[in-house]
Amino acid sequence: MVIRSVIKGLGYQVPDQVITNDDLSALMDTSDEWIQERSGIQERRWAQKDEATSDFAIEASKQAIDMASIDPKDIDLVVVATISSDYFFPGVSQQLQVALGLRNVAAFDLKAACSGFVYSLSVADQFIRSGMYKTVLVVGAEAQTKFMNKSTSGRDIAVLFGDGGGAAIIKAEKGDRGILSSHLYCDGADMKSLWMEAPGSSGSNQIDLNNIQQYPDRYEPYMNGRDVFKNAVARFPDVIKEAMDKNDLNIDDIKLIIPHQANLRIIQAIAKRMDISMEKIYSNIERYGNTTAASIPIALCEAYNEGKIQKGDNIILAAFGAGYTWASAAIRW
Ligand code: ACO
Repeated sequence: MVIRSVIKGLGYQVPDQVITNDDLSALMDTSDEWIQERSGIQERRWAQKDEATSDFAIEASKQAIDMASIDPKDIDLVVVATISSDYFFPGVSQQLQVALGLRNVAAFDLKAACSGFVYSLSVADQFIRSGMYKTVLVVGAEAQTKFMNKSTSGRDIAVLFGDGGGAAIIKAEKGDRGILSSHLYCDGADMKSLWMEAPGSSGSNQIDLNNIQQYPDRYEPYMNGRDVFKNAVARFPDVIKEAMDKNDLNIDDIKLIIPHQANLRIIQAIAKRMDISMEKIYSNIERYGNTTAASIPIALCEAYNEGKIQKGDNIILAAFGAGYTWASAAIRW
């Protein structure tokens, strides 16, 4: 029997601070109607001043470790998908390692934006299948809203995003359950359609270090919403179909598709293009907004807690994000 990577534990943590669409209307020129119509988002959680990405990563990981009933010392590798680490360097994975009482254990951050969790799951899967590691902690965590412009000039982005973290414990197990396949892609040609320019080492940023006020817009994300939409609704179906085809599965064999929670309109467009009922596609974006790398592990954990995933079910995780990157994973639970 082959060695597979099986998800044994899940956990998630979001900030307590709830920001409704009406709360946003008090900060910027927007409305509940505009936001709901274009994104399906009703509220999101924002990290408070004294909270950071590592806080959500640590709490989510502790829950996943509890559910998996493992000793943290069994963990061989920590991978954290994030684009909003607490510090410019090193990464959240190092903070998480210390918080869990681990030492001399491999730990790194992976920067693949909204596709980061699926990329990280695939990395964990390769280490497990090769026999190098037996237990891997995979986390997606973000406090992206710390970098948002929360005034009218940043409203196109600020209304979409939220903060939080989700974690999974992946273990080597012989059998036919676990990650069946993963599929990773990137096309950097349009990277500036969704990016944040600074801080960075590019020549154009050097002068900013002494005077960041000169270029405040470089220190907040930029998004070409229409370009993102157009690419997302093409890439998501491609990669979902690839995950099914690779494993000789058709849509009737799939219990649930858990896409990155980018925008309800994008999720609905995927369902329409693929002729899949929305019942089969999990969404919690109305409560959390877009939490970047955290959205899939949070959704996976909630779907599991709601009893929507049972032993033996086939599920597909699918992501699309900055880069552009996109990815999927087929999992037999
Ligand atoms: N509230 C009110 N008005 C706003 C807001 C806001 N929060 N944001 C932008 N507007 C205004 C703009 O200024 C513009 O005004 P103007 O026409 O006077 O210039 C107008 O609304 C644009 O409205 P629309 O024409 O409806 O814009 P569009 O149809 O392009 O919708 C949107 C914008 C929602 C961003 C759309 O392009 C989209 O859904 N894109 C996908 C982006 C996305 O979901 N990204 C998620 C993050 S990336 C990821 O996870 C992969």
